[in-house]
Amino acid sequence: VPFLRILGIETSCDETAAAVVERDAEGHSRILSDVVLSQLDEHSAYGGVVPEIAARAHVEALDELIEAALKRANVSLADVDAIAATSGPGLIGGLLVGLMTGKAIAKAAGKPLYAVNHLEGHALTARLTDGLSFPYLMLLVSGGHTQLILVRGVGDYERWGTTIDDALGEAFDKTAKLLGLPYPGGPAVERMARDGNAGRFDFPRPLVGETRLDFSFSGLKTAVRQAAQEIAPLSDQDVADICASFQRAISRTLKDRIGRGLQRFKAELPATGGTPALVVAGGVAANLELRATLQGLCDKNGFRFIAPPLSLCTDNAVMIAWAGLERMAIGIAPDPLDVQPRSRW
Ligand code: KG4
Ligand code: ZN
Repeated sequence: VPFLRILGIETSCDETAAAVVERDAEGHSRILSDVVLSQLDEHSAYGGVVPEIAARAHVEALDELIEAALKRANVSLADVDAIAATSGPGLIGGLLVGLMTGKAIAKAAGKPLYAVNHLEGHALTARLTDGLSFPYLMLLVSGGHTQLILVRGVGDYERWGTTIDDALGEAFDKTAKLLGLPYPGGPAVERMARDGNAGRFDFPRPLVGETRLDFSFSGLKTAVRQAAQEIAPLSDQDVADICASFQRAISRTLKDRIGRGLQRFKAELPATGGTPALVVAGGVAANLELRATLQGLCDKNGFRFIAPPLSLCTDNAVMIAWAGLERMAIGIAPDPLDVQPRSRW
């Protein structure tokens, strides 16, 4: 294996991030630095990410963040083998900032550029943290995505399921908003749910029982709104009960959907050897009830359940550097400097 060291840049949503990752000739990988600046404070007043504010914040912060990442890694640009920058999917303003910066550095320092798909970054993270080998299943649950993906190899992915309406994190955020809880909604809903009675409301579990592996969460949000309107004004206990019931509905839904995915994996990839694995990624992976549900499901089906450290589940540049490293290591050609960002990819 070649020794490789990559500088990664991530600006696709509301985190500005830079990181340096390396892998030595023995195959040992190391995170040399991992710098993330969250724009949460800038967006929270609006109850969601405002694209124009995000793009400006990336412009203001990125140069210094890259410098900090190099400094913390104790390397200079001359010591890195390539630049990896997120080129999609995401908010176009932020993508332009990160990718243009990556191009400029690549050009100036004479290094190759890898334009990385953000989802590929999430998908390959478990190979850095847990040395996982292919193939495996990944559940990505964030504010923008809800996907079950078969990861066969670098650049070789098969989407088995996706949401047909809201992303799971979005469902948490919207539910929180209509209950008067702060943004981001996930942590607030989880906190309230702890003191709630999950049996009080019987919220719908869309698509449960269907053979296709897609997800749907907008009906759940609508049911929460109706319940809230019926019993308004809401006491703290009411809110807690709604949150607990909401989380239970999600757990039951995931149990069915992901359970089917695990069965399909075992049926279609029986001869891969070793224990099959399910990896979770995305901000919603912070949710303890969700983790417990997935852990239980994996135990029952003979899967390893892998949840990378939370800082690597949410958006970061380590995963982008790592995806670039994986591409470079198997000889995938770098991208031309006129590569364009792709908001949808
Ligand atoms: O991956 P992420 O940090 O950012 C992007 O979506 O790009 O995910 C953020 C999402 C938000 O929707 C947030 O409400 C949700 O993750 N989230 C949670 C929890 N912590 C964050 N959802 C449920 N429970 C949590 N503890
Ligand atoms: Zn992400």
